[in-house]
Parts: sequence; structure tokens; C-alpha cells
Amino acid sequence: MTATSSHTSGPTTRRRPLTLVHISDLHAGSPYFVPNLMERAIVEINDLRPDLVLVTGDLTEMGFRQEYLLAKSYLDRLDCPELLVIPGNHDSRNVGYVHFEALFGERSVVWHGEGLTVVGVDSTEPDLDHGHIGRARYPWLEERFAHPAEFRIFMLHHHLLPVPGTGRERNVVYDAGDLIEVLQRCGVDLVLSGHKHVPYAWRLERFFVVNTGTACSLRLRGMMKPCYTVIELGEDVVDVFRKYPFHGRESLLTFSRSSREFTKSVAGGPVGRPKTEE
Ligand SMILES: [Fe+2]
Ligand SMILES: [Fe+2]
Repeated sequence: MTATSSHTSGPTTRRRPLTLVHISDLHAGSPYFVPNLMERAIVEINDLRPDLVLVTGDLTEMGFRQEYLLAKSYLDRLDCPELLVIPGNHDSRNVGYVHFEALFGERSVVWHGEGLTVVGVDSTEPDLDHGHIGRARYPWLEERFAHPAEFRIFMLHHHLLPVPGTGRERNVVYDAGDLIEVLQRCGVDLVLSGHKHVPYAWRLERFFVVNTGTACSLRLRGMMKPCYTVIELGEDVVDVFRKYPFHGRESLLTFSRSSREFTKSVAGGPVGRPKTEE
């Protein structure tokens, strides 16, 4: 069981819409890390004045302390009320998780505020690229998500579902089937992950799964470009965008919290039924 931080924040009076930013896979220290992209992403994110910034790991390339310090020097410049960070498989190389804990705190996070519950879990294992959550943590997850909330977000570094355009499938957590059932029981609305640097969205039964790209590295697959995710969480409509540093943003997914109707944009064009008009 990983150590966990848990806190409650934010005013009790909800303010809508909320702006959430999801960034991932900085890979600081890699020759493919582009400082200029990270600098630009920070400026853009701060201009958005987000309520919450979520970071799903691979902060570093090899888990070295100097890489962690570099990643932290950037993340510390994000101007937001809450920054929630979990590690990725690259961060768990070379016993890097001890540096994660020293610099960012515990490896799993729980946050309650603004009508939201956000739970992030370390899905990594030392020096291995695959991920899993594990049966031992299911009751813990259910307890955390039992907290009253209007919208529940689960985040992990690895994938819950396969993502097109990522090559041979070996990126889904080993216990994905059981975990999906747990998340359904928990009433999770949105799952956020990173890892393969390809933005994509799925709807699965009553929840949505959104993968983001690498925010600031050229560890890219195919024609992908560095990007991060912006989520505008309205009273009913949730808009999810891919934002490209220095460039514009594109709609990735729009869904209704009440009906779960959705549209998403993929390479072959829009998919899904139109959202319910407000
Ligand atoms: Fe990565
Ligand atoms: Fe990864």
C-alpha cells in the first residue's frame, strides 16, 4: 500500500465552471525534453487560472534526483490553488520514488473540494514499465470515493483501456478488469492517465477515460504533437480540449454529466451521439 496524502480544500460554495488542467509525461532530463515547450505551457496554464492542475507522472526520464529537481522547478511555477501529482514508471526507475516522496510528498493523493473528489494512485512498480493497482487497494479506493461528491475523478499514470496509435498493447494496468468494476461501484465519472503520450478519449458505461499527451517532450508517436488537456467542468456539460503549447486547442470530448451523451473527435472524425443541448 502506498502512502497517501489526503486533504480538503476550496470554498464550500461551488463556483462553475471549474477549469482543470491535466499535464503529464514531462520527462525532464531526457534529451527529448524541450524547456521552451514547458515554459510556454506554464505561461498558458497560468493564464487560464485553473482551479486544479493534475499531473500523472513521468516527471523524469530515469528517476534521478537532479531530474526531479528540474521537474519541480517548473511545476512550482504553476499558479493554481491545488496541484496534485502522482508518479509514472520512469519516476520509479533507480529507486526514484524516494525522491518523489521527498520533493512532492506521498505517491497517492486524495482531494475533496468544489464538489469534486479526486483520487490519484501510484500504478508503478520499481524498474518495471508495466502498471497495476492491486486488490489490496480496492477497499481503500472505495472508502475515498464514498466521500460525498458531485463529480469523481480517478487518475493513474498507466492506461485503463487501450489507446489507438500506441503500438503493441502492454500499457493497460494488469488488473484493469477488476479495477473498472471498482471504479464503477465508486461512481467515478472521469479517469485521467498519461504514459504513451497519445491523447484519446473513451466512454465506458457511465464513465469517461481521457488520456493526455506529453506536455513538453519530443517522445512522440507517429504524427502526435506535444499537448496537455484542459477540462471545463460546467453544471452539466464537460468540455475536454487538447492544448498544444504555442498553438491552439482542439476539442477532444464533450459530454453531459446527466445524460452521458457525448461527442469526441478522433482522427477519423467525430464519434458518438451529440450531447444534449442545454
Ligand atoms: Fe511517458
Ligand atoms: Fe510512462
